[in-house]
Amino acid sequence: MAKIALFGATGTIGSRVLREALDRGHQVTAVVRDPAKLTEKHENLTVATGDVLDPESVEAVAQGQDVVVSAVGGGDGPGHVATIEPAAKSLVAGVRALGEKAPRLITVGGAGSLRTPDGKQVWDAEGLPEFLLQIMHAHGDALDYYRTVTDVRWTNLSPAGLIEPGERTGTYRTALDDLVVDGNGKSRISAEDYAVALVDEIEEANHIGERFTVGD
Ligand SMILES: NC(=O)c1ccc[n+]([C@@H]2O[C@H](COP(=O)([O-])OP(=O)(O)OC[C@H]3O[C@@H](n4cnc5c(N)ncnc54)[C@H](OP(=O)(O)O)[C@@H]3O)[C@@H](O)[C@H]2O)c1
Repeated sequence: MAKIALFGATGTIGSRVLREALDRGHQVTAVVRDPAKLTEKHENLTVATGDVLDPESVEAVAQGQDVVVSAVGGGDGPGHVATIEPAAKSLVAGVRALGEKAPRLITVGGAGSLRTPDGKQVWDAEGLPEFLLQIMHAHGDALDYYRTVTDVRWTNLSPAGLIEPGERTGTYRTALDDLVVDGNGKSRISAEDYAVALVDEIEEANHIGERFTVGD
C-alpha cells in the first residue's frame, strides 16, 4: 500500500487515477482547491486543501507520503497554459524541501513533444489550433525543466495523442519518447487505462528520472 498525495483529483484524468488507486488499496490524500467539488467518499481517502502553484502547500501535503501525483491543468483557457510549467517548479520545490524524506513525484504530461513515426514531433503537425500548441509547448517546457532535476525522483507520464474517458481494459503499451500508435497510425488511450499505467508506475517505479508514454 502506497501513501499518495494527488493534485487534480476532481479532473478528468485525476479522478480516474483516484479511483484506480483506491480500488487497489492505496491511501490517497486528494489535494483540492475547493473540497466541495470532490464527491468521492472512501475509507482510504482524505481530502486536503491546497494549491499546486504554492510550494509551501505542496511541501505540507507531501509530508509523510510515498508519492505526490499531479494531474493539474485543464480547459481551453489561458489558466491551463499558465499552470503547467509553474506547477512543475512548485511541485519540485515543495517535494525537494523534504530532503531525504522527499516522496517521489509523478506528473501527467503532454503528448506534443513525442516523436512521430515520420521523425517529427506531435506538435509539428499542420493545422493544430493555437491554444493546443500553447498547451503542448507548456508541457514540453515543463519536461525540459524536469530533465534538469537530479535531486527529486520525478516521472512524467505523457498520454497518447488522444485521451478520453472510456473503458478500463487493464492493458496498454509504453514507450519513452516515441508516440505509441496502433496499426492505423492512431494514438489513443482511455483515461481509465492511463490511470492503470500511472498506478502501475507508483507500484513498480520503472521510470524514475524519465518521461514515458502510454497508448492502447
Ligand atoms: N494528449 C495529451 O497530451 C493530453 C490530453 C488531455 C490532458 N492532458 C493533460 O493532462 C492534465 C489534466 O488534464 P484533464 O483533462 O484531466 O484536466 P481537467 O479535467 O480540467 O482537470 C484539471 C484539474 O487540475 C486542477 N487544478 C488546476 N489548477 C490547480 C491548482 N492551481 N491547484 C490545484 N489543482 C489545480 C483542477 O482543480 P479544480 O477542480 O479546483 O479546478 C482539476 O482537478 C493537463 O495538464 C492536460 O494538459 C494531456
